[in-house]
Amino acid sequence: MISIHRLLKTTLLAGLFTACASGTVQRADYQVIPLPQQVAGVQGADFRLDKNAKILYPENNEALKRNAEFLAEYVGQMTGLRLQTAPGTGTDARGNIVLATGLAAENPEAYRLQVTADGVTITGASEAGVFYGIQTLRKALPVTDGAALLPQVEINDWPRFGYRGAHLDVSRHFIGVDSVKRFIDMLALHNMNRFHWHLTDDQGWRIEIRKHPRLTEVGSVRKATVVGHNTGVYDSVPHSGFYTQDEAREIVAYAAERHITVIPEIDLPGHMLAALTAYPQLGCTGGPYEVWGQWGVADDVLCAGNDSTLRFIEDVLAEVVEIFPSEYIHVGGDECPKVRWKACPKCQARIKALGIKGDTKHTAEEYLQSFVINHAEKFLNARGRQIIGWDETLEGGLAPNATVMSWRGVEGGIEAARQGHQAIMTPTTYLYFDYYQSKDVDREPMAIGGYVPVEMVYNYEPVSPALSPEEAKYIIGVQANLWTEYIPNFRQVEYMELPRMAALAEIQWSDPTQKNYELFLARLPKLVRIYDLLGYNYATHVFDVNVSFLPNPAEGVLDVAMFAIDSADIHYTLDGSEPTASSPKYTDTLKIDRPGTLKAVVIRPTGASRVFTEEIAFNKASVKPITMLQPINKQYEYAGAGTLVDGLRGNGNYKTGRWIAFWKNDMEAVIDLLQPTEISRAQIETCVVKGDWVFDARYFGVEVSDDGVTYRKVAEAEYPALGQKDRDGIYEHELTFDPVTTRYVKIVVKPEHSMPEWHPGKNSPAFVFIDEISLN
Ligand code: ACM
Ligand code: ZN
Repeated sequence: MISIHRLLKTTLLAGLFTACASGTVQRADYQVIPLPQQVAGVQGADFRLDKNAKILYPENNEALKRNAEFLAEYVGQMTGLRLQTAPGTGTDARGNIVLATGLAAENPEAYRLQVTADGVTITGASEAGVFYGIQTLRKALPVTDGAALLPQVEINDWPRFGYRGAHLDVSRHFIGVDSVKRFIDMLALHNMNRFHWHLTDDQGWRIEIRKHPRLTEVGSVRKATVVGHNTGVYDSVPHSGFYTQDEAREIVAYAAERHITVIPEIDLPGHMLAALTAYPQLGCTGGPYEVWGQWGVADDVLCAGNDSTLRFIEDVLAEVVEIFPSEYIHVGGDECPKVRWKACPKCQARIKALGIKGDTKHTAEEYLQSFVINHAEKFLNARGRQIIGWDETLEGGLAPNATVMSWRGVEGGIEAARQGHQAIMTPTTYLYFDYYQSKDVDREPMAIGGYVPVEMVYNYEPVSPALSPEEAKYIIGVQANLWTEYIPNFRQVEYMELPRMAALAEIQWSDPTQKNYELFLARLPKLVRIYDLLGYNYATHVFDVNVSFLPNPAEGVLDVAMFAIDSADIHYTLDGSEPTASSPKYTDTLKIDRPGTLKAVVIRPTGASRVFTEEIAFNKASVKPITMLQPINKQYEYAGAGTLVDGLRGNGNYKTGRWIAFWKNDMEAVIDLLQPTEISRAQIETCVVKGDWVFDARYFGVEVSDDGVTYRKVAEAEYPALGQKDRDGIYEHELTFDPVTTRYVKIVVKPEHSMPEWHPGKNSPAFVFIDEISLN
């Protein structure tokens, strides 16, 4: 820790936060985001970039001419210098910035950025490569007014993944053309090359289809929108909007100039209520339907038994391929309930006609969905295009050439790669940017739920160790998704994306062996200066106090380490009072051995950060050695068993790392109190979110032992199965018993092993999320 903090300080002092005496020319810093693969500093005098420098591009190369204009614009933003662009080559390099292609590199997006005392050259393996060299130079420049010094360097850089995407849902809330362009600019700044545009859904159809005009006339308008999390209460404000084909082409061209491919998504056969409202004959029941004003998964989907549905899909895709030159077209395939198909004579007739039979792996209706997706694939393949589908397209068998977008965790991507299909990783747990980025949800704009802070994004590794090197090649990329149910405007899009997009960019581009969160944080303020320059509405949580807690059973204390991204001063209190600049200053790990309230704040010349607050609840079990006799669920293991006795309580969000989960097996933990200790009370807490298959405990028992071998039960309780109407949230369970003096305490908690009939997951096991075990 110490050495990293020192590194942090050096980097920052060398860069952004060095106060320069007026008149001093500021220097560039090549530690940008995403971190380039190779940055080799070269001794010698800096190159001075001033107003006399020109940006040169090869004559008749329109893409590099445009690249030169971009660079001129960026240099203007950073320094105020207005550089000229002109045709020219390396022989004119002196004093200038020269752009060229022709770099011999395996990776088509590679570039070399060389700075000598005389000038700058950016050579790409392609025009796109040059564009990424330009992005690096842009981000390296100081924010200043006038000339800048560029230390000599040779940067050799290339992306780790060929597919570096960001997804934007414009159905739930329509986002205008200018804002979509601003989104594309955000992608360019983060070296991304794919814009996944989610154009259609239950709540609005947003792309003009000339053959079926009612899709936008009717399907782009919803009468009202539900307030909050499907409260049943609606506003009375119609919501509408769509892109004409000309506008969509304008977006495609705008993206292409920035070396970004737009991948349109027409989500089928589910998520189609807007289309069904326009053309009710496309549904199994014939309607009537209404463009949805609530969120979730609708039962009404395209009728797979109706030939006109297949013609409809072809008509839509035929126009889509005319607008979007992308090799890949996303056809959705997610969240398509089969209840209508089960009851629909046409769908059942189709199943019969195709000779489809359900088996132990998939239902007949799942195979029917594959038939629909295969039909779309055949149509697109015949036009030289490939499909991408969400991971549900694995159910019922993948279309022969499909690429899978893995969103319900990582298993879909792993399975696709094993089957020899390409996969793009977008798991909810790390890359759903519609999830909260702070635990303190009361101070956040409403989000869909979840918890994906910047650090979690950064720590995601897209290539699962479960894959062989041969299989791993099928993981072609990484993407974050932004669903806009709770994102009413583009300012909020910016807030949800930034700075998580910076962490995403490093996963997509940089070398994983160079991964280091604290060094990433050290690079971040420089990028944030650019966010400021461009007026982006970014989230600022990373500028608050970063606190890590570590139970330290050896010393019987809770270790508390704190740092600020820019090494600014942190002040704290332990008595619950508000921390100020005159409160104790944090210098080294705090050793906490009693209950209290930690409050901490970063004090900067610009003001104080948000106050970090944590109740620390010590009891006889706190920071004692704890051993698990049955496994913690891998997906929700977080920091492991110690979480249960760290003195820190989870809140109503089970994904914060404060809760750990058990699934299929019981929780069985042994706490070593280290010496004979009298106890007469035990308590646990569970966090319940029934819709997520997260249920309460069915059993809680306490056993004691003097030798850790032979145990004796002192208390137990069973709890009834949860009813549909039982509340979600935190459940406390307490057992009291006659005082007993013991060294070892075994806690047993049984999850719901078979969810009740009323639940969609009936008969399947539920998770139990447990936190703090208290003994008194
Ligand atoms: C999805 O989030 N329904 C792909
Ligand atoms: Zn049907």
